[in-house]
Amino acid sequence: MKMKGVSVSSIILIFCVVASFSEAKPTELPQANESFKPNQTLQQKLGSSCSYTVTIKTSCSSPSYTRDQISLAFGDTYGYQVYVPTLGDPYDYRTFERCSTDTFQIYGPCTYQICYLYLYRTGYDGWMPEYVTVSGYYSSPVTFYYNSFIPYGVWYGFDYCYRYSTASI
Ligand SMILES: *[C@@H]1O[C@H](CO)[C@@H](O)[C@H](O)[C@H]1NC(C)=O
Ligand SMILES: *[C@@H]1O[C@H](CO)[C@@H](O)[C@H](O)[C@H]1NC(C)=O
Repeated sequence: MKMKGVSVSSIILIFCVVASFSEAKPTELPQANESFKPNQTLQQKLGSSCSYTVTIKTSCSSPSYTRDQISLAFGDTYGYQVYVPTLGDPYDYRTFERCSTDTFQIYGPCTYQICYLYLYRTGYDGWMPEYVTVSGYYSSPVTFYYNSFIPYGVWYGFDYCYRYSTASI
């Protein structure tokens, strides 16, 4: 009787652990978004009074270094957006080195909870990020898991904003 009770509770425990892991583990894959375009006019209008910390881990499957130009855009469900035309120094081989982690301090318009993020790449070396984490004053840290090569010349990433979307106009 007791044995049975123990095994049932351990099954429940295992189930909970598995469930919490599958919830934390992202299932979505990055996608190319042909219709995405950062709005620089809007960014200039809104100013750069908010600071963000962007942490990027470059995959150990990435080329040993990259001289490619990397752009970044992210934002919230209300239309507030941060666009960074060039992340780091493309002439510095040490940014986005294989297996390395780079942290950038970025200033841009203030956003609420960040729910989408895209990367854009031009150049010939190629690059594979493992993940990108962004945190801001009004946004709790959010991590986007890539583990895939960024294709050339297309905004590539994630849009989870439907999870936050309200019945707005
Ligand atoms: C692509 O970007 C547009 C504009 O930001 C957005 O409305 C759309 O949902 C995105 N598409 C996907 C598949 O995420
Ligand atoms: C970009 O933002 C400006 C200023 O808010 C707005 O007038 C314009 O329609 C936006 N452009 C696009 C393509 O969304």
